[in-house]
Amino acid sequence: MLSDRQLFRQLIAKTSDTPLNIEVVHASGSWMFGPDEKKYLDLVSGVSVSYLGHHDPDVVAAVKEQADKYLHLMVYGEYVQHPQVRLAELLVEHLPEPLSQVYFVNSGSEAIEGAMKLAKRFTGRTEIVAFRNAYHGSSQGALSIMGGEYFKNAFRPLLPGIRLIDFNDFSQLEQISRQSACVVVEPIQGEAGIRLPASGFLQALREKCTEEGALLVFDEIQTAFAHTGPLFAFMHEQVVPDILVLAKGLGCGMPLGAFIASEPLLKSLASDPPLGHITTFGGHPVSCAAGLAGMKKLIAGVKSWNIPGKEALFRKNLNHPSIREIRGKGLFLAVDLGDSERNIRTVFKAIENGVVSDWFLFNDHSFRISPPLTISEEDILLACDILNRSIEQTGK
Ligand SMILES: Cc1ncc(COP(=O)(O)O)c(C=O)c1O
Repeated sequence: MLSDRQLFRQLIAKTSDTPLNIEVVHASGSWMFGPDEKKYLDLVSGVSVSYLGHHDPDVVAAVKEQADKYLHLMVYGEYVQHPQVRLAELLVEHLPEPLSQVYFVNSGSEAIEGAMKLAKRFTGRTEIVAFRNAYHGSSQGALSIMGGEYFKNAFRPLLPGIRLIDFNDFSQLEQISRQSACVVVEPIQGEAGIRLPASGFLQALREKCTEEGALLVFDEIQTAFAHTGPLFAFMHEQVVPDILVLAKGLGCGMPLGAFIASEPLLKSLASDPPLGHITTFGGHPVSCAAGLAGMKKLIAGVKSWNIPGKEALFRKNLNHPSIREIRGKGLFLAVDLGDSERNIRTVFKAIENGVVSDWFLFNDHSFRISPPLTISEEDILLACDILNRSIEQTGK
């Protein structure tokens, strides 16, 4: 019989020539366990998915409880389903006006598609503005607003009317105009290697969008659910978008996405023509049950997890002299070695040494720190120790 690893090599389509190749047989909290009890401390957590850690007992119980009642019933938006409406209630309770209605979908890419369609439908305009070095998903619409030519050129023609501008360049906000249906932006750029907005940048963007009648769309697919401190990253500056896009952590380990806006905005997808967006599995009841259990636990526990203290611990103890910079906020950090080749070797060496990190799509000279928010201080110290050692082992 072939091993799982052999079948993976033969039968599973690859996304690159260098998959991380980690085999996991079970996972719990911040740890993943391979065959022969090889242990990995997980500093990626599925790229901001498992904010409570792996196999959280409350999330697993919610999944089982919902699976015992019903799985799928009907395409999205037709039936009243308890976990879906209760998750929408909890989200809206924690969001400011005008973010008062939720459209649930399957994934981040689909949520971005929905947000782009909604902006075009509502404004009657066609141009979409996005930022260089941003990643918003892999479907053709989301790919069209990706902020890097290398990854999208092979798939052209993509959507027309896309305008890319530079994050944190105030002067380029002038390019937002009466033609712009929306501006899609991550309030903290993730795959750019964790780039914080310059002081006042999101406010200036908000003002320009309002002035031109363009909708402001925040992609918080990586930044939501307290990774950067507050529940949503836009809460750092109180700049409120017209459309908020969520996925990844939303299902707390189950597939789920959403775009959230005002009722009048979302209503425009429901008439003339109706069915402006339809999705069979969007807002799946088991995913919503998991997301609801996760979000309740997050809200109850987040203060006691001391995210600023954990950020400080990483910053203090990641102290190898080859580290150029640590960027980010909370447990959403990039450690910049300023050398792509060494950074990639460091990531593989750290995995060998039992700590999982990775590099960023548009920044391969930095590695990622986005562990479960529940990671212990002891595990942070261990992670820093192993990472410092791995950097040392890849030195020239
Ligand atoms: C910021 C951001 N937007 C969108 C997406 C796409 O989400 P999904 O992979 O669920 O389609 C991702 C995924 O990594 C992301 O990081």
